[in-house]
Parts: sequence; structure tokens; C-alpha cells
Amino acid sequence: MTNQLCIVLDFGGQYNQLIARRVRECGVYCEILRYDTPLERIKELNPTGVIFTGGPNSVYDMTSPHIAKEYFDLGIPTLGICYGCQLMAYTLGGTVESCTKSEYGKIDVTHKGGSLLFEDIPETSTVWMSHTDYVSRLPEGFSVTATSADCPCAAFECPERKLYAVQFHPEVTHSQYGKEILHHFLYKVCGFTGDWVMDDFIESTVQKLRTQIGDKKVILGLSGGVDSSVAAALLSKAVGKQLTCVFVDQGLMRKDEGDFVESTFTKLFDMNFVRVNCQKHFLEKLKGVTDPEQKRKIIGTEFYNVFWDKVRETGTDGFFAQGTIYPDRIESGKGNKAGQGSTAVIKTHHNMVKMPDDIQFAGLIEPLADLFKDEVRAVGETLGIPHELVWRQPFPGPGLGVRIIGEITEEKVRILQEADAVFRDEIEKSGIASELKQFFAVLPNVRTVGVMGDHRTHEQLIAIRAITTDDFMTADWARIPYDVLARISNRLCNEVEHVNRVVYDITSKPPGTVEWE
Ligand code: XMP
Repeated sequence: MTNQLCIVLDFGGQYNQLIARRVRECGVYCEILRYDTPLERIKELNPTGVIFTGGPNSVYDMTSPHIAKEYFDLGIPTLGICYGCQLMAYTLGGTVESCTKSEYGKIDVTHKGGSLLFEDIPETSTVWMSHTDYVSRLPEGFSVTATSADCPCAAFECPERKLYAVQFHPEVTHSQYGKEILHHFLYKVCGFTGDWVMDDFIESTVQKLRTQIGDKKVILGLSGGVDSSVAAALLSKAVGKQLTCVFVDQGLMRKDEGDFVESTFTKLFDMNFVRVNCQKHFLEKLKGVTDPEQKRKIIGTEFYNVFWDKVRETGTDGFFAQGTIYPDRIESGKGNKAGQGSTAVIKTHHNMVKMPDDIQFAGLIEPLADLFKDEVRAVGETLGIPHELVWRQPFPGPGLGVRIIGEITEEKVRILQEADAVFRDEIEKSGIASELKQFFAVLPNVRTVGVMGDHRTHEQLIAIRAITTDDFMTADWARIPYDVLARISNRLCNEVEHVNRVVYDITSKPPGTVEWE
């Protein structure tokens, strides 16, 4: 099945991925392409609609991204957002000027009625604005459809040419009816039918995988993270025992996590599951090493060595699969399917380095390469992967290695695993887990004096970290209620051997990072 396509033409705005995700949420398949994608290519892709994103520039800046005037002769329904809106006006002969007063944040806009974009939306509503330029004169044939106190052209359009523009950001949740406006553009203006449905995705991908793989074998590196787990489940559904998943357990995972991954994939899915237990090997290599970067490097390199050795042993006469997802491809700047053909690079994963030269496969399979994370999770749920795996918190590739400061030893790993399990259990029981994006224990490798009964103790300190965040680029420490903190502290000191003190990390990011390293 080939889906109708919406192209999100990227002019450098910070919300371009968000626009694409919102479009997908509307049941429309979309891809992000660079603003300078040749018109010929756009024509070839035959999109049902195009959205111009925002951008940090001014249209009069010589270095800012532009679009050829001929684009508008293609007759594709187009929505310009923020910079994209100004660019549309400027390219078609309108005028853009600096605002006397920039608009930033939540602003009320009032629409005039009669526009498909604003159908059934209250006359005045709040939107998110962020601009210092504005469209002061419209191109011929366009008319204003909405205004704000400081922006006379908050939205404008030329319905005959199916060209629409909004100065605000409908993709941001602060825009009260943003989702409806995007939906109206997609369905009422462009005529999308909503053929992007996850159940269909699973069926058509399974069919495609069967055709592509035939009777060959497939090897997948399974880390226990969301992406590789969902890729494994999808491949298992497609080719069953032709799939071999290699799971390298370096002994730095959370308590019982390795066993959980193994039992999930051996019990629920049809595949060959190979687990390589190598904690001893890793601890040997990490002996005496205290520098965080060096520890990361050793863990990464050893992971790579163990993994590829196992792959060589298993056989390389079939396909190699990995759980690359769409944002990996956008971030890595490798373009995307619609633009340049499927990327053939190994996912830049902290656990996975480039394929060694001596290993050659018949081809690379990336069944999730077109999906956003939310979509990957939806597929995972449908395929029956347990909730706790599908909704797993981010977990660093080097595992607890970045949460033990200084030298890593077997005893420290055990103490941290126990402490982390108690902390997580108490957070789950207290009912606040869903408000937190990440929570874990850290072993700072500091011994402090305590007292137990009549004895003085000199034992380990445990730090606990819990954060709220939208994107992990910035984060705030979570305001865990005092009574929950009291129970956590009590349990950690009583239940985890060699722990006699607990501190709570109340540093936001920046200046702190999420991990302690
Ligand atoms: P920082 O510590 O940089 O962490 O504020 C931001 C987010 O990234 C996660 N993190 C990693 N994830 N491999 C990963 O896949 C890594 O090596 C790694 N290091 C940090 C961290 O847990 C947090 O969610």
C-alpha cells in the first residue's frame, strides 16, 4: 500500500519534527524534506499537500532559505507557517517588514469567518506566536483571514490556488485549536483521506519484509530498548525463526532487566534468541578505570567486539536489521527516503559502532525507519510487547556504568542495582511515576559515617534523581512529596546492604545534566 504523502518542507525552524508528528497524528503520512529539494523531485513525489515550516531567518537576509517562484506553479496545496508564511507572501510579490512590536508567546487571534482553515473554530482563540517580521502587504489574489492586536496578517489565503498561511504555530500545544487548523488544511484543503494507520503499517510492513527477506536469515542486535524491541517483534511476526536476536548483557543493566528481556522475547515471540552474558569480561576491562569518557569508550568498544564476534559465529549470510527510527535519520543529516533513497548507515547508537569491514550482509533492514517514537510505541503495544518495555525510560547505552562514579566493581553494580530497584518500586507505589520522565539511583562512590545500633558505619551514599522534561535538552528536578522521600530514604538504608545515607539531587538541567557520569 502506498500512502498519500504530505511533505514538510524544512526551512530550519525548531518545530519541524513537531509539525511532522502532528500531521502523522492526523492520520496522514508525511516526510520532512530540505527546503532546497529540487522542484523536479517534489513533482515526482506527487505530494497531496505541502507545509512550509518556520525558520530563524528574515526573508530579506541573503543567506536565508528561499524557494523558487515556480514552486507555486506546481499547484500543490500549501500551508506556510511563520517564516514559511512570510516566504510565501514575499516570493509571490507581497511585502514583509519588521514588526514595531515583536509577538512572542500566547496571543489572541480573531478570524473573519469563511476560511476552511478556521471552520468551526471560535472567532477568537489563543495561538503561539514567535516572530519579529510580519507580512505587511499581501500578494495579489490573497486576502487576510485572521488578525491579532499587533499583526494585521495573522493568517491569509488564496483558496483558488489552495495557498494558505498562518503567522502563528498551529503545531504547538499552546495554540488552542492548532490541531484542528492543521486537520482542516489536510482534509478540507488538500483532500487527504487519512490512510496512515498503524495497523495497516504493521500488515504492509510484514508483507514487505517477507518479500524482501524470502528464505534468508536476519540478525538483529537487541538492546532491550524500545526501538530494537519493536523491530524484533515486527521481524518475528514476519519471518519467525529466520530471525536471530543477539542480546549482549554487559552486566550493567538494571536489576533483573536482562532476564526480563530474555523471558519476554523467548516466551512471547517466535525467534532465535541469543543472550551473551559478559559482565565479568566488562568488569575486567573496566578495572581501575575512573575517567568517565574512558569508561564510556571501553564499554562501547567491548560491546561492539562481543556483539560482532557473536554475529560472525551466528553467520552473516542473510540480512542485518536494526531499529533505526525516523528522527535518527533526520538528526544524522543523512536525508530521508523520499529525498535520497534509504540510508545505509548503521544507527549512530552509543552501543553500536560501524560494521567491521570483514562483515558483509545481503542487505540492511530498518523496518521502523519511517516512524516517530510515539508510532514505534503504538506498533509495539499492538504487537504485544509488555507495557513496561514499550514505555521504558531512556537508559544510557553504557547502562549503570554512567551512574557509578569512579571505578566500577561488581559490588558497586550490585548495590546500585538494588538501590535503583527499591527507589523505582517506591516511586511506582506512590503513584507519581507517570508525572516523571526519568528516575533512577546513582552511586557517587562516597562513603560517609553513619550509626547503626551501637556501631558506627562507614558505608555508601546513594543519590536519587528524578526529573520532569519535554525533550531532555532541559529538565527540572521533580518535586517528590516529602513523605515519599522519607519512605525511599528509609527503605534504601534498611533494605540495601552497604547503604547508610541518601541524598536527593535538586539540580535542574542546565546547569546539571540528567546523568551524573
Ligand atoms: P544528559 O545526562 O546528557 O542526558 O543530560 C540526557 C538524556 O540522555 C540519556 N543518555 C543517554 N542515552 N546513550 C543513550 O541512549 C547514552 O550514552 C546516554 N547518556 C545519557 C540520559 O539518560 C537522559 O535521558
